[in-house]
Amino acid sequence: MKRTYTSLLSLDSGCVKLCGWVHRLRDHGGVIFLDLRDKDGLLQCIIEEALNPELYQAVRSLRSEYVICVKGQIRKRPEGTQNPRLKTGDLELVVENLEVLNKCETLPFQIDDSSPISEELRLKFRYLDLRRESSKNALIFRHKLSQSIRNFLINEGFIEIETPLLTRSTPEGARDFVVPSRLNPGKFYALAQSPQLFKQTLMIAGFDRYFQFARCLRDEDLRADRQPEFTQVDIEMAFIDEEDIIDLIERMLSLAFSELLNIELKRPFDRISYEDALLTYGSDKPDRRYGLEIADITSILKDTSLQVFANAIKDGGVIRALNVKASLSRSQIEQLIEFTKSLGSSGLAWLKVEGQKLTSPIAKFITKEQADSILRTLKSSDGDTILIFAGPKDLAIKVMGALRSHLIKELKLKAEGFDVLWVVDFPLLEFDPLQNRFVALHHPFTSPKESDIELLSSNLENASRIRARAYDIVLNGYEIGGGSIRIHRRELQELMFKALGMKEEEYLEKFGFLLDALSFGAPPHGGIALGLDRLCAIMLGLDSIRDVIAFPKTQKGICPFTSAPGDISASHMKELYIKSIAPSAHLS
Ligand code: AMO
Repeated sequence: MKRTYTSLLSLDSGCVKLCGWVHRLRDHGGVIFLDLRDKDGLLQCIIEEALNPELYQAVRSLRSEYVICVKGQIRKRPEGTQNPRLKTGDLELVVENLEVLNKCETLPFQIDDSSPISEELRLKFRYLDLRRESSKNALIFRHKLSQSIRNFLINEGFIEIETPLLTRSTPEGARDFVVPSRLNPGKFYALAQSPQLFKQTLMIAGFDRYFQFARCLRDEDLRADRQPEFTQVDIEMAFIDEEDIIDLIERMLSLAFSELLNIELKRPFDRISYEDALLTYGSDKPDRRYGLEIADITSILKDTSLQVFANAIKDGGVIRALNVKASLSRSQIEQLIEFTKSLGSSGLAWLKVEGQKLTSPIAKFITKEQADSILRTLKSSDGDTILIFAGPKDLAIKVMGALRSHLIKELKLKAEGFDVLWVVDFPLLEFDPLQNRFVALHHPFTSPKESDIELLSSNLENASRIRARAYDIVLNGYEIGGGSIRIHRRELQELMFKALGMKEEEYLEKFGFLLDALSFGAPPHGGIALGLDRLCAIMLGLDSIRDVIAFPKTQKGICPFTSAPGDISASHMKELYIKSIAPSAHLS
């Protein structure tokens, strides 16, 4: 019989057999303590020379990470020798028989959490890294999170359905990974960036509650919160509106936080409009735990005598201020000014609060009334430093948002707990000057608000005012999910494609199958996808999603374990009807 560590806990005594890895050996001369490790934990095993000299000698030749099987008697540890840090710290195994199942070479790093190891090395020897407590626990946590979500959705009547990975391009905003088709020379599949069109099609097929733990593949530049392949909890429902999706996700996340972290999230989650998020935090995924709110003080300073402010207002710009809630030195302020200049700003003005008054070279241009109003709006107290930007609105959002993030890093501000919120009222379209056309802020299947549809059908003069029926969910400053109510009528979908600058033949060629499906009784529907990797990493307080993925890629998109991506042979290329061109030729 092979026992797990957990089942041992109910034992005081008895004969057991355990398999695992030699975690640590301590030879005290005459008695050896061997810590045996498997997925569930550690158990102290004892080998006494006096009891079994032959076994004692055999154990002395063992090395770390040998794979062994031991048999023996479990017993309570003598009083005073218990280890409260171990689940099995009250017990020990007196070994009677030991078999070596496999040896282990000299390790590239120790299997413990205390020694810092480069990520490159950890990923190259990922199987050793995953034997470490913290790495192993991250994957087990992910498993439990998935299980909690899956159980919840099944209880709510959702059906889990798999959709293809080999498909056609869908516009999720990233580049496609493509796969040549041997059976269709010169043709390529795109690997699914998400199951978007398939899940909508499933609604048309009548599955009114779908979910999937969907692998998504996107060829984009990688960051700590992005991987080329990642997992979405992908959800779609028919005959619902925004409130149904929001309520479902709030209940689902609250349950997961409560089951896994014993934390009760306050429901309903806060909501903030896209516009307010940009104004107050300079970001559509704000982390509100740091405070540092940005305020618009244009109206307070509308009659200002200070030329730079007056000019900004005259040119249709804004004046935005941020209270740093700390006394910054002149050189710190100078550095911040240089930082904002690198973002295209012509500079920053600043004020200090002393004795409930504003001081700085520009203070003499600010009337008492304006000063009082600024102090009140920015909830200022003595010692605070206020930073002010005056200029075009878009630049104000960019500069103040970047300044806020920069300050959080520079001042090493600490935040605790979880800040979860919905961002709503997104614009449907945004103008892309590079392509000289409108692009969808979410994706082209997102429905405009009913009252804004007419703006889509007119000449797009007021396109930036069209609001989308879209919502994002943000946790601690990361977008952990996004979704929308979809367009379910063919005519509106065609109108949307046209607004995105597509000619009829182009959208028929790319999305004719969707338009056809919408013509055959498509129900109203909508959904959302949560980034499982991001959610999991944030719940665990980890900096990178790589830590919650069994075999992640590095920032350069490489798998250090398998060395993917690799070469393929000339004959393989020929079979696929493809040729490779040298990077130098590619640039010319
Ligand atoms: P979206 O593109 O916003 O929406 O993706 C949904 C969520 O997936 C996560 N995510 C990522 N996680 C890790 N690495 C990446 N490269 C990556 N890209 C995205 C984010 C994001 O919020 N089909 C729509 C959803 C819908 O409308 O229902 C979609 O894919 O957490």
